[in-house]
Amino acid sequence: MFNLATLSVATLALVHGTFAANAKRGLAFADSSDTGDISVAENTQVSWVYDWGTTAPSYLADSGITYIPMQWGASGVENFAATVKASGAQTVLGFNEPDFASQSNIEPATAASLWTQYIQPLKADGVRLGAPAVTNAPSGTPWLSQFIGNCTECTFDFIPLHWYGDGLGPFYDYIWSFHGEFASWPLWVTEFASTSTNVTEVQDFASQAITYLDSLDWIEGYAWFAFYRQDAGSYYNLLDANGQPNALGQIYLDQTS
Ligand SMILES: *[C@@H]1O[C@H](CO)[C@@H](O)[C@H](O)[C@H]1NC(C)=O
Ligand SMILES: *[C@@H]1O[C@H](CO)[C@@H](O)[C@H](O)[C@H]1NC(C)=O
Repeated sequence: MFNLATLSVATLALVHGTFAANAKRGLAFADSSDTGDISVAENTQVSWVYDWGTTAPSYLADSGITYIPMQWGASGVENFAATVKASGAQTVLGFNEPDFASQSNIEPATAASLWTQYIQPLKADGVRLGAPAVTNAPSGTPWLSQFIGNCTECTFDFIPLHWYGDGLGPFYDYIWSFHGEFASWPLWVTEFASTSTNVTEVQDFASQAITYLDSLDWIEGYAWFAFYRQDAGSYYNLLDANGQPNALGQIYLDQTS
């Protein structure tokens, strides 16, 4: 059936879905048992998603939200460029927390040589390259400096970083200090969360932080940790036990700036 009412609803949905999303705002989501949860992020402010993997699973590929592949660690790095080219991805993320023994744990010199051989060539195909994402532990920025020092043939289009902590002041201080040290590159905050156990404080933190990140021209992207269902003892997940956005999730998905 066709009538004016259905036309305007369809038109609004199209305008919303096509133009209203925030180009910076992304999701970190890799819950393979609740894959349908991604549907609540469609037609929101969210414009991109990653799952720490290289290939979009079908539930993400079909979501209409741009998937950004990541080369998580050293394993499989030799296949990454071919996978990215086959998918047509325009942007990629590098190693995940290589400064952390419990994460991808790669020496800066080793990471630089893997990058030079296997990731840097994607640049010639027009793919935007995000550098490795270090933690905000004391090992983070020194790792990145050594990596950049070793990676003399590398070009990055942006540098991702992670931050966990309590309070907007420490968060803003960290990103400004990171920006001061790596001033040649735009930054993406690809994991961040308030670790406060007070729900109101976590919501206020998220609301103010996204407004702030949206206002900084050297911040190109960000993804809250994380688009997961509520978990005992976590106050920063964006979904309730049924996979619907909780109050925090509504802020993150819908707040326009
Ligand atoms: C290269 O990385 C190693 C650690 O893997 C580090 O000791 C060295 O200082 C780095 N070189 C430069 C020029 O940063
Ligand atoms: C949570 O934080 C808010 C705002 O800082 C405060 O008013 C409230 O008392 C806190 N709640 C608890 C249970 O500590």
